[in-house]
Order: sequence, then structure tokens, then C-alpha cells
Amino acid sequence: MIDQLAEIKARALKDLAAADDAEATEAWRVAYLGKKGQLTTVLRQLGALPPAERPLVGQKANEVKVALELALAARLEVERRVALRRAAEAERVDVTLPGRQPSLGQVHPTTRVLKEVLDSFAAMGFQVAEGPDVEWDYYNFEALNIPKDHPARDMWDTFYVQSKGRPGEILLRTHTSPNQVRVMEKVRPPVRVVVPGRVYRYEATDATHESEFFQVEGLAVDKNVTMADLKGVLSAFAREMFGAERKVRFRCDYFPFVEPGVEMAISCFQCGGVGCRLCGNGWLEIMGAGMVHPKVLAGVGYDPSVYSGFAFGIGVERIAILKYGIDDIRLFYANDLRFLRQFK
Ligand code: DAH
Repeated sequence: MIDQLAEIKARALKDLAAADDAEATEAWRVAYLGKKGQLTTVLRQLGALPPAERPLVGQKANEVKVALELALAARLEVERRVALRRAAEAERVDVTLPGRQPSLGQVHPTTRVLKEVLDSFAAMGFQVAEGPDVEWDYYNFEALNIPKDHPARDMWDTFYVQSKGRPGEILLRTHTSPNQVRVMEKVRPPVRVVVPGRVYRYEATDATHESEFFQVEGLAVDKNVTMADLKGVLSAFAREMFGAERKVRFRCDYFPFVEPGVEMAISCFQCGGVGCRLCGNGWLEIMGAGMVHPKVLAGVGYDPSVYSGFAFGIGVERIAILKYGIDDIRLFYANDLRFLRQFK
């Protein structure tokens, strides 16, 4: 039996040395030290030996068992280290690799110009306000001196929102002008606001027409506000946006909510005002404006014999088109990155 034990030990150690992964090691443990393992089986037979032989064989058996257990422990320790090293290897970070550039977004050209416009008026003491895109007919038309069935409504055809209670009275605003009325209903003069926002037109789109675009409305009301204030403020704005050497031109135009109404143009910044492909005759129209109509003032409870004011409306994309030489307004809504990426 002693020989058998020695032989088991020799074979076991040889097998263990050959086990090359955790699974093989476990199979080895079961084969030798498990309940039905070779060594265990021999140990069980101890009881059958004559009592005189037992101590010696028992001692030897124990020695073999301890040797195998030690060998196993050493082997498991090696495996543990190998596994740790592998895990560390798998998680390794190369800190010398250059980082991945996050793709940064950028501001849309409309937003960019919008901000410039607002900043320019903010510097002249105008506050920024906002109003709803979905508007009552009353604010979009009636309160701006554009009664139902008045031909002036043809200037602004829009999209109507279906409503049970007030059919035909809810629409997408055609301009930011309703906010003149909304602001004046809330505050007493002096008023100095600019109101940016998206506006809508029922329009066949082409290079110069979109069914959605942005405007900035402006309004200043106080005692003794005159056309000179309108010209001063708008000229300062135009020179800030388009260059200090710009000349400005005001000509009569018709808008129902102002009297007199004007259209403002600047001398072309491309040709200096002599005439070119961009401007034609040397002038670029940039906005509509005028002195707030007495009816509009009276409508919000401002006494037109005490207060007066001027208003203006700027098409934001129109400014961007002029500034950057863009030849199609539809580009602003086409989401074409080749176009948008040019406005860093
Ligand atoms: N609301 C006008 C439009 O969309 C633009 C405009 C013209 C606004 C004259 C004004 C103004 O405030 O005084 O065509």
C-alpha cells in the first residue's frame, strides 16, 4: 500500500504539472482528492489493514495528502495571478493615445444673426420679450388696425388652427407685430422692447419665400417720441450690423399699424452704393418701420395725444442673406451640413 501511495503521489504531481488551466486543475482535484478520488479511495482502505501496519501507512497517506494539497494550493495561486494579470491587460488604458474629439455643434446662422440683432438693440436700452407662435386673429390683425375683410389682410395669408369654439380665430402668427399690442397691454410707457420669434406664411416656397422664418419686432413708446428717434435708432442699428460707413434711406411704405410707414434701406455694402448684382440700384431694403398708429395706441388704452412711438420689423434670414451672400432662403431649413458648417 505504501508503494501504491508513492505511485499515486508521483503520478498526481506529474498530472498537476501538466494541467494548464483552471478547468484541468479542478478535474485533477476531483480525480485525486475528491470524495471518490484516488487518494481518498486508498485512505478508506486503511481500516482493513492489520492494526500493526496502520500507523506507518496512515502516516505515509497523510504525508501524501498534505503534499497534494500544498501542490494544489500553489497551483491555484499561480492561476489566480495569471487571471489577475489577464484582467489588468484587458482593461489597460493607453494614456498616451490622443483623445477622441467630441463633435461640437455650432450655432445656426439664423440664431447667430438673431443674437447680433438683439445685442445691438439691447445696447440701446431695449428689453427682449417673447410671445406665442399660435396667435389670436385679434392680436395678429384686428388690434393692428387690420379689420376682417380689409384688403391689407392679403399681405399676410397664414395657416389656421381648427377650433370648435372660435372657428377661424386661431392662427399661426404672420409677423411678430402682435407683440406690440401684447406688450403694451401689460405695461405703461415708457416702452422699449424687441421681440424675436418665428412667423408663418401660407406661401409657395422659392428662393426668396419660406413658409417659416424669423422676425424681430421693435417698439418704443413714450412722450415726445418722433420720427427722428426712429431714424436715429435704426441708423445706429444698421451701421452696427453692416458697417459704420453705411448710408441709410427711408421711403414711404404702407403698413396698417403705422402712420407714416416707411421702408428702410442701406447703401449696398458690396458695391458701396453704385449698383451691383446683390443690390441692383445701390440700396438694400432691410426692414419695415413707422410711427405707431394712433388707433393701435388707443386700442391698448394709451392716449395718442400724450404718447407716441415707433415700431419696426426685421426679417432675420433676410439680414443673414445680405450679410453672408446666401442665395436661397430655403437653405436655412434644409438641414444641409455643408451649408451650416460654413457659419463657425
Ligand atoms: N409686420 C410687418 C411684416 O411682417 C413688418 C413691419 C413693418 C413691422 C412695419 C413693423 C412696422 O413694426 O412698423 O411685413
